[in-house]
Amino acid sequence: MTRALLAIETSCDETAAAVVDADFGVRSSIVASQVELHAGFGGVVPELASRAHIETITPIVARALEEAGVAGPDLEAVAVTSGPGLVGALLVGIATAKALGLGWGIPVVGVNHLEGHLASVYLADRDVRFPQTALLVSGGHCMLTRATEPGHYELLGETVDDSIGEAYDKVARFLGLGYPGGPVLDRLAGAGGEDRLGFPRPMLSDGYTFSFSGLKTAVVNYVRSNPAFEVEEVAASFVAACMDVLIAKLRRALEEFGDPALAIVGGVAASPVLRERAQALAEEYGTRLLIPPQKMATDNAAMIGVAAWHKLAVFGPSAPSFGPEPDLRLQFS
Ligand code: KG4
Ligand code: ZN
Repeated sequence: MTRALLAIETSCDETAAAVVDADFGVRSSIVASQVELHAGFGGVVPELASRAHIETITPIVARALEEAGVAGPDLEAVAVTSGPGLVGALLVGIATAKALGLGWGIPVVGVNHLEGHLASVYLADRDVRFPQTALLVSGGHCMLTRATEPGHYELLGETVDDSIGEAYDKVARFLGLGYPGGPVLDRLAGAGGEDRLGFPRPMLSDGYTFSFSGLKTAVVNYVRSNPAFEVEEVAASFVAACMDVLIAKLRRALEEFGDPALAIVGGVAASPVLRERAQALAEEYGTRLLIPPQKMATDNAAMIGVAAWHKLAVFGPSAPSFGPEPDLRLQFS
């Protein structure tokens, strides 16, 4: 049988399990979202997230194994997100992975969630080239890196305040549109809204540094002083401002480094506008756009499985005592 591993992801509000082959083929990928649980709060409530993970993790793992048609002891390893994320949420995944590893007599490997996102490009395209300009845009992060080779990153710049996903979520919450903000704002922006409001494009000419909190405040101020605002127009103008900033930074990096590949990962990479504009930019610069399938841009376990194969090949399994690292960062060389 082909070599396969089980991957588990519980760092935030998705309980996910996947079976991934050594050649990155995804045999099964199950994602149970807690969106409805947290929607009324306008964001993730950590205590509720941990409790939901503990209820859901066992059936989700069982389903992933069943859909993949594998038995635990036949797997080569169990991979699990070790950070960054909510500590109680991470603990559920790690404890589950360790118990399964012990029971099946196979090693366990802890995976950095950010490396998982960066590895998610293999889920769309095995022809992943280096060096690579890589933009990671999610609910927790907004950073531009260069990967010179797999696992070796150089930080070009990151946000000084909110991540872009956080800005989407805060704007959506303020407009009473629920959580998460990304999909709903994208939908409204696409529903005939136009960029008429000219919101600021923060730090446009500031190297590779991002800032989104001023843009969020500009939206709030506009809505407060224009009670008859049109939500589609606000959404379209906000999305356009966000995208202009991202594209400007990517353009700068492509001008400076001319890398043969441009990777865009993280939940915001699900945005159809970003996908379209990034494709046009990549064509303009003759670079290869690496972007996960839309469904694999947001948190999932398949990406953790791919990153785990890379990690196992270079470092082997994790020490049996490894635990959650809520503030884990990428290692920059
Ligand atoms: O990667 P992810 O699932 O979780 C983290 O690692 O943070 O990213 C979640 C973020 C949320 O802020 C959500 O609003 C945003 O990704 N998001 C989107 C879209 N779908 C999710 N942002 C823009 N457009 C989308 N279609
Ligand atoms: Zn994520």
